Amino acid sequence: MTLRALGEAEGIPVGAAVAAGPLQANARYWRILGREFGMVTCENAMKMGPVHPAPGRWAFRDADAIVAFAARHGQGMRGHTLVWHNQLPRWITGGRWIRTTLARALDRHITTLVRRYRGRIGAWDVVNEAVDDHARPRPTIWRRVIGPGYIEQAFRSAHAADPDALLFYNDYGAEAAGRKADAILRLAAGLLRRGVPLHGIGLQAHLALDHLPRWDGVRTNLRRIRDLGLQVQVTELDVRIRLPVTPAKLRAQADAVRRLHDLCREAGNCTAFVTWGVGDAASWVPGFFKGYDAGLLFDRAWRAKPAYRALLGPPRRMR
Ligand code: G3I
Repeated sequence: MTLRALGEAEGIPVGAAVAAGPLQANARYWRILGREFGMVTCENAMKMGPVHPAPGRWAFRDADAIVAFAARHGQGMRGHTLVWHNQLPRWITGGRWIRTTLARALDRHITTLVRRYRGRIGAWDVVNEAVDDHARPRPTIWRRVIGPGYIEQAFRSAHAADPDALLFYNDYGAEAAGRKADAILRLAAGLLRRGVPLHGIGLQAHLALDHLPRWDGVRTNLRRIRDLGLQVQVTELDVRIRLPVTPAKLRAQADAVRRLHDLCREAGNCTAFVTWGVGDAASWVPGFFKGYDAGLLFDRAWRAKPAYRALLGPPRRMR
């Protein structure tokens, strides 16, 4: 049994974020990726800065390589991400914009990227992290210059470019019910009321083992998303461990991964379970969280960890 077979059996594809470098340079990386994961997403290659470095100039090489790998291996794809405040190119952050010119630039960016991968990317993170850590609209360049309507515009542009793609709002720190999750649900409900083509909420699930969400709060939040008629996808799962990594912490990490997956299965509207990387040797965690590591399902020697085995675990009652 592989994670890929598990995902296919349960209708919740298990996926991984992919970095173009290791994909091309590390045989163990791409062997695990092809064998174990039924869905891939680009960790960085489709973000605006990397893929659209100058007006009218596109750098599709890395994104195309990942899309081609997924096609060769019959894997689904999530597109990440069309509108974000990070990893923006200087021509955006340093430009002299007015509302109409930036709105046009954003529409052209989205249209070009979504059209290029039409039919190969099943779901897009259209807008990423538009709600800040205080549950307020994040004051990004998009919101400052275009206004709050940038979110609706982005979804409509993406839908026009590929009417078959599922369109998600994606964020972190909102896995369990709470102020930020509440704000995201209000945002989603407003978009739906206005007939905006929003199909789901992406819960990034960048978790810390020493600060896990309340699982009953996660169950509540998944139910509220379902009650809005929306899908939910776990989009960037890692469960970082404060060093030193010990067998007890790895067992606790396995329990957390299994609980989240069980909640997704129970929710009934969960349609993807994506980890933010193939293995610990190619993870963003140690570079961004000093003193933490080991957030993924395969260790630095590309061996399956307890969290991997917990996901496969003893046979479960089929949904
Ligand atoms: O590609 C350049 C390289 O040319 C340069 O030499 C090097 C040193 O400056 O930087 C490289 O770019 C880095 C890029 O990752 C690719 O490795 C950026 O500096 C670095 O900031 C960037 O980090 C990414 C981070 O988003 C940026 O905020 C992480 O890899 C990526 O895992 C992380 O992913 C985000 C999701 O997109 C959204 N959710 C949160 C998640 C974690 O922040």
